[in-house]
Amino acid sequence: MGYEMAARLAKGGCDVAVWNRTKAKADPLARHGARVVNELSDLASRDIVFCMVSTWDDVKEVVGKLLSGSSKPKMVVECSSISLEGSAELRELLKQKGIEYLAAPVSGNAKVIKAGKLTFVVSGPRAAYDKAKPYLDMMGTGSSYVGEGELARIAKICHNVMLGVVIQCLSEITILAQKTGMRRHAFLDFLNKSVMGSMFTRYKTPALVNLDFKVTFTPHLLRKDLDLGLDAGRELEVPMPLASVTRDLLQTMIGHGMTEQDFATLILMQAKASGIDLKPENVEVGDGLSS
Ligand SMILES: NC(=O)c1ccc[n+]([C@@H]2O[C@H](COP(=O)([O-])OP(=O)(O)OC[C@H]3O[C@@H](n4cnc5c(N)ncnc54)[C@H](OP(=O)(O)O)[C@@H]3O)[C@@H](O)[C@H]2O)c1
Repeated sequence: MGYEMAARLAKGGCDVAVWNRTKAKADPLARHGARVVNELSDLASRDIVFCMVSTWDDVKEVVGKLLSGSSKPKMVVECSSISLEGSAELRELLKQKGIEYLAAPVSGNAKVIKAGKLTFVVSGPRAAYDKAKPYLDMMGTGSSYVGEGELARIAKICHNVMLGVVIQCLSEITILAQKTGMRRHAFLDFLNKSVMGSMFTRYKTPALVNLDFKVTFTPHLLRKDLDLGLDAGRELEVPMPLASVTRDLLQTMIGHGMTEQDFATLILMQAKASGIDLKPENVEVGDGLSS
């Protein structure tokens, strides 16, 4: 995610410096004009630092290293999917150092960013948002400002609960359709053209039809977000029955060791549970992203 975000900023003409733990993965960004640095503290003197790692523990670690020297950036925009509590802790830490902070998690995957369709949901001081907005816009189709504090975190968690529930639903109905004798691509073609079709159902169609499960989002990361949603539901006393069942189905998949491929492998679990040995259909289907 971070790679494609940085690539869009660099291609858009911004003065971009990048750090990634495994430097070799970031090195190709140099051909778009980005400067790939060796140390996180090399980013501390930038105006805005965008952070895109994995969990709150990772964010804490990288921000600690970022601020380990004497320089500090004017603003940190944190885009990973992390908990409200982690985000609030980060806000407090940055406030004490006089650094502006926006919580700005995203919707999309690396391919979505490449297609220019990434979106952000943002919270924090309005004035900081106004400053960051041109860069957020450059990375995709825009951002939604939802208010102060950590509100963006809960919006993102709600979004990803839907991601989990929808992929499980898609898997169930696609296998049901197949078991009646339909080809998966034919069924999904109908669904994608209908009012129920969406950018998501369209871009997951090649995976569901041809079983290409090159990872866009890992089962572990999806489980993290379902857990964050369920935690929030418990705290706020909101029942979340669909999220709860989906979390258990995902856990079953993880328990079977299916952790390294895309979360859309939920369809393989569904097929197995339905007595179907799933085979790729090897049919060319669009993903709704490539033009
Ligand atoms: N993929 C999606 O579809 C998607 C969509 C929306 C939001 N998100 C969220 O966006 C974030 C990134 O997702 P992703 O798919 O890009 O994950 P990813 O492919 O696993 O990449 C994680 C990145 O974080 C770095 N990282 C992780 N832990 C670190 C640590 N302790 N110190 C330094 N660097 C660390 C990794 O560095 P290395 O390269 O060295 O491993 C890598 O650059 C996650 O919070 C995820 O939930 C993902």
